[in-house]
Amino acid sequence: MLILILRKNTLNSYMITNLNKMIHYFFQKTIQTMIGKETMKWYKTINWEEVTRPYQSNKIIYPSYYTSVNYHGIENGYLNPIAAMTYDIITPLATLPSEQWLRQNLLKKITIKPKKILDLGCGSGTNTINLKVTFPEAEVIGLDLSPYMLAIADKKSRTHQQEIIWKQGLAESTKMSSYSYDLITISLLFHEVPNAISQAILKESLRLLKPNGQLIILDANQHRLRHLKWLTKLFREPYSFTYAQGNIREWLENIGFQGIKAKPVGGIYQITSAYKLEEKSKNYLKNKNYIDPKT
Ligand SMILES: C[S@@+](CC[C@H](N)C(=O)[O-])C[C@H]1O[C@@H](n2cnc3c(N)ncnc32)[C@H](O)[C@@H]1O
Repeated sequence: MLILILRKNTLNSYMITNLNKMIHYFFQKTIQTMIGKETMKWYKTINWEEVTRPYQSNKIIYPSYYTSVNYHGIENGYLNPIAAMTYDIITPLATLPSEQWLRQNLLKKITIKPKKILDLGCGSGTNTINLKVTFPEAEVIGLDLSPYMLAIADKKSRTHQQEIIWKQGLAESTKMSSYSYDLITISLLFHEVPNAISQAILKESLRLLKPNGQLIILDANQHRLRHLKWLTKLFREPYSFTYAQGNIREWLENIGFQGIKAKPVGGIYQITSAYKLEEKSKNYLKNKNYIDPKT
């Protein structure tokens, strides 16, 4: 009996290892095909050290939760230029049927007229650029830990002729002044960090927002993701499954955000909006669903 159980377990782990290898192979091949051989060759000719120098802050110490995992099966995760080069190719696959439609839904949730906007974990800058196009008068800042992602984001914003400030930093400890932003957005970041870090990022956002400022989070719907472990494996997401066990609404409530609204969008996503409200604005929000950020 014991021999039978041992054999069964060995067979199971053998099958799982092989399945993981197959998924990894499929992922690598798909990415390589989509990028094309010529681009893959070209990327090797780039002097990444030089390209990323403007976005490297010597004050940054990369946290171990970031450096110890291979996001999307890419060695060294976002600290590998391949991650930055492939991000805009993988994301439309992860946001089917339409990435731009999903992102437009985030913009629709903005109820204030922001003068200063911060996009935390901005990555390759698609959401950040959307914000600048929507609010051309606003000062827009994109913050990310990866200098490679920031280099790609900067290149993209120049192509779109949008003036955005790109900064390297930790979303949970930005070193920026309190009460400085009208609007903070966080898109597709929380499923990629431990839950304790997401909650630290929310605390930091509350500190950074001006009174009556708004926070909007676009990420996977935690409730739905709980039933989709295979999907988190397919996209090689190291923290997605623990993220799915958490609850953004509860995190926001515990931290002291107000006027929290969460809405599922698309198949597996969710947009959550919340405010840093002053006492006297709470009733105003109830009645009018619109508030002015304080300057
Ligand atoms: C999945 S991407 C999302 C990018 C972008 N917001 C979007 O909507 O496409 C996650 C990004 O968060 C960044 N990131 C992860 N942890 C971070 C942290 N603690 N502080 C700042 N950026 C972080 C990664 O470098 C990566 O660029």
